[in-house]
Amino acid sequence: MNIPALKIGEHTARIPIIQGGMGVGVSLHRLASAVAKEGGIGVIATAGIGMLEPDGAQHYFKASSRALKREIHLARKLAPQGIIGVNIMVSTNDYKVMANVSLKENIDIIFSGAGLPLTLPKFKSYYPDSRTALVTIVSSGRAANLISKRWIKHYNYIPDGFVVEGPLAGGHLGFKMEDLVNNRFKLEDLVKEVLEVVRPLEEKYGKKIPVIAAGGIYTGYDIAKFLKMGASGVQMATRFVATHECDASIEFKMSYIKAKKEDIVLIESPLGMPGRAINNEFLESVKRGEKKPFKCVYHYIKDARIEKAPYCIALALTNAQKGNLKDGFTFAGYNAWRIDRIVSVKELMKELTDELKKA
Ligand SMILES: Cc1cc2nc3c(=O)[nH]c(=O)nc-3n(C[C@H](O)[C@H](O)[C@H](O)COP(=O)(O)O)c2cc1C
Repeated sequence: MNIPALKIGEHTARIPIIQGGMGVGVSLHRLASAVAKEGGIGVIATAGIGMLEPDGAQHYFKASSRALKREIHLARKLAPQGIIGVNIMVSTNDYKVMANVSLKENIDIIFSGAGLPLTLPKFKSYYPDSRTALVTIVSSGRAANLISKRWIKHYNYIPDGFVVEGPLAGGHLGFKMEDLVNNRFKLEDLVKEVLEVVRPLEEKYGKKIPVIAAGGIYTGYDIAKFLKMGASGVQMATRFVATHECDASIEFKMSYIKAKKEDIVLIESPLGMPGRAINNEFLESVKRGEKKPFKCVYHYIKDARIEKAPYCIALALTNAQKGNLKDGFTFAGYNAWRIDRIVSVKELMKELTDELKKA
């Protein structure tokens, strides 16, 4: 098929592929700029970004603001013509700070999920000249409907797009564990649901609202399937981990290459949400109930439950990002086991677009 461009707000990407934001230092300026340079949309994740700074434990908000600003500048420098977005999880403590830094920097797109970003347009209204598009990540038509109604009623803001994240994605998932285990939802159905919510809005307001499919999309043929269904693009994360440009350590990337199908597991994250990860000795020891020494200095997630958690997820993910998998683990999508080598972003984008053309 012909490759359609992906327009989100005022920004048009030549290739309809968004690199999904991957928190705690997995997608920073290197990965985001490489994807943007190839015509896709590169995304810097803000979750835990300040933890990688030397003063992250002392002044988390200051450190995360500085880190985000720097990552945006570096990405822009490396991909001056490309489209760069940020991914901000609603459940993170520095959500407002990260949204303000991104808008001040006039980032092209904010992707926001892991909760409902009900007030995001309010932040944008403080920056009247901003060209930032606001996209919500949802896992149901119901959530898309709620956001649309709220944004239109309170802020007269029509959403600039929705990413529909299905049950095969990596990282934290917007479903109940029971529903995941019983395969109760399928991305194809969720995309249809969200398209049904969006279509009347498009007609009423005369604005195209792109719907983007995410979770388990692996080949260009998968991309074609969702485009044919009416999606305007796809968001992919897992495949971008196994690239030279991915900002995580080589040990992190190698955990994907070594993983077998049975190693990809669902876990109960200390944040009270299920997540998908690659099993290892650390996760096995958590399952056995061996509590890790608990010292969470960051408190980067807004949730009282964190104090009762068996381990500090922020620290475990930082350890993995840096290559210490003995004291951490890697999040990954359902298809991570299919990855068998590390390639450049250029090679990956070529493979995906070649397949898409053939589809
Ligand atoms: C290592 C890793 C970290 C992730 N971190 C985040 C995050 O910080 N915020 C978020 O909204 N989604 C996060 N995700 C989800 C991805 O952005 C993406 O939507 C999803 O993984 C797509 O499915 P795929 O990995 O099968 O392509 C993460 C995924 C992975 C694999």
